[in-house]
Formats: sequence, structure tokens, C-alpha cells
Amino acid sequence: MHPTDRPRRLRTDGVRPLVSETSLSASDLVAPVFVDATTDERVPIETMPGHERVPVSEAVARVEEVRETGVEAVIVFGIPESKDSEGTRAYAEDGVVQRAIRRISAETDAYVIGDVCLCEYTDHGHCGVIEESAETDPTLTVKNDETLELLAETAVSQADAGADMVAPSAMTDGQVRAIRDALDDAGHEAVALMSYAVKYESAFYGPFRDAADGAPAFGDRRHYQMDPANRREALREARIDAEEGADVLMVKPGLPYLDVVGDLRREFDHPIAAYNVSGEYAMLHAAAEKGWLDLEATAHESLLSLKRAGADLIITYFAEDLAERL
Ligand code: PBG
Repeated sequence: MHPTDRPRRLRTDGVRPLVSETSLSASDLVAPVFVDATTDERVPIETMPGHERVPVSEAVARVEEVRETGVEAVIVFGIPESKDSEGTRAYAEDGVVQRAIRRISAETDAYVIGDVCLCEYTDHGHCGVIEESAETDPTLTVKNDETLELLAETAVSQADAGADMVAPSAMTDGQVRAIRDALDDAGHEAVALMSYAVKYESAFYGPFRDAADGAPAFGDRRHYQMDPANRREALREARIDAEEGADVLMVKPGLPYLDVVGDLRREFDHPIAAYNVSGEYAMLHAAAEKGWLDLEATAHESLLSLKRAGADLIITYFAEDLAERL
């Protein structure tokens, strides 16, 4: 008896590269950059080894470091000098992200993406304007339609500063259309829009919320971010955003949601993005620190798996390390 099928024939070193279905390159990756208005020095982010919050004066240098590794795209997050109930520093012309983007786009060739959300800028830490009674009644958190205008203003202010792409992450219904219309009205029809179309209410964002100081002061985000139990709903979210004019559809987090990345890949012709989030980064680092996992190998396998599932581009804190090794 001989086996009729012998897939092992295609696993020799000579042929493996020829039949490899997926590859990773620096041009697939987007590196997150944190710009902090409360410091004039670089501050390491404890929960994300290798990452720092940098002052606006260091933003260009930070982006040049990213570009030296071969990664050309950055997504900029801001830590403002002050917070208030309406997140006004998110859409201020002299806000931390606006100042940073102005310099980065003037002084580097990086492709600059602005994260559009209010949670780092509101004193209550929610992603929009909240109801008066939200603190006592947690089912009433973000006022959807009142928030749309502020998100649109944020996006336009980032585009005015020179952003090439804006990425709304607030999970406000109608945000893609509100932002697209506002960008077009302001003459920014060339600015692209990547929607965090399918963003789950995930515990994997923990380290980011420390890094960007954006944890909700009370309650959680389950009344606007998606329920991790839901898969069909992801297609509905993505379809709405596609119809509203999103250029790129994102799934976030990445690794726990590969089924959803695969679903979107099959259903849409749009480029699909995956966000390999802070918790996915932190857990590999923590295990590697204990000697339990090989950091480089598991990071590479994680990102390769996101591509295999169907992602065209990946936002990841591993971008620089990986690009350097490719
Ligand atoms: C802003 C935003 C968050 C992340 C990206 N944009 C935080 C959140 O929704 O709580 C998380 C990114 C990460 O964990 O790496 N809304």
C-alpha cells in the first residue's frame, strides 16, 4: 500500500518557496506612532516594549526611524495636553496630532494616517459625547449623532494638517459618510478613508489604553463596539461602511478574529486591513521575556497568518522589528 497523495513532496527546501502562498513585506505594514503633548522627552511605554510616546519635536525623528526599516506608512495617535467633556483637543488646529502631522508630512515622505477618535481627548474616556446620566446608567454612553460632527471635524483638521488617510475608530453609526462628506466639502476628496469597520469590544486593547491614556473613566465600550460573539454582524458593519464610502475596511483585533478577516476578504473587493493590537503584541513580549516563546518567530507567524486569512495591510507594533528582518 502506497499513499496516493504525498503533499510532503512539496516541502523540500528547494520547492517550498515556489509553492508558498503568502508572503510578508515591509510594504504591507503600518507602524503606530504616539505623540504626546504632555512631555518634552521620549517616554517608554511599559506595556509595549520598544515603543515610546514622543513629544511633537521628536515626531519627525520617530517617523524617520520607522522609514529606515523600510516601513513607509504610520498611523498617528495623540496624547493631548488637556482633556474635556467634548474632546476639543481632538479637532483643534494646534492639537497634538495636527501639529505632529503638519511636520511629518512637510519633512518626510511617509504615508500618514490619522486615527480619528475622541477617547484620548475626552475626560470621561469615551469615544464621543456622552449622555449626562451615563455615569449612573451605563447603557447610555455615547450620543451617536452629536458625535458625528466632532469626528468629521477631527478628520478635516487632520487632512488640513496633511494626513494622506484618516481612520475613524469610534464605532459611531454613520461616521464614514459624515467624514467623507466633510472631507469632500473641505476640498479633501483625495484623502483616503480607512474605516475601523469591524471593531470589537475587546480586552486586547489594554496596553494601548495605558499607552494613549484612553481607558473609559467608567463603564465600558460595549454599547458601541461590537460583541466578540458576533460574526454575521461584522459583514453588516462592513457593508454599511463600504456603502458610505470607505476605501479600506479594517478588522480589529487581528488574531482572535481571523474568521472575520476571511469573511471580509471573500465578501468585498476593497483592501482589507487587520489591526494586530497592543494586547497581541504585549502577550508575545511577556511570554518571550519568560523564555516561553520565541518572539521573532511568533511575531512573524502572527502577521503571516493575518495575511493568509486575507488582510492586505496590517497595522502592527511589530512593523519595525519585522521589516528590519525581512
Ligand atoms: C481609539 C483606538 C483604540 C485602539 C486604536 N484606536 C482603543 C480603544 O478602542 O479602546 C486600540 C489599539 C490597540 O490596542 O493596539 N478608539
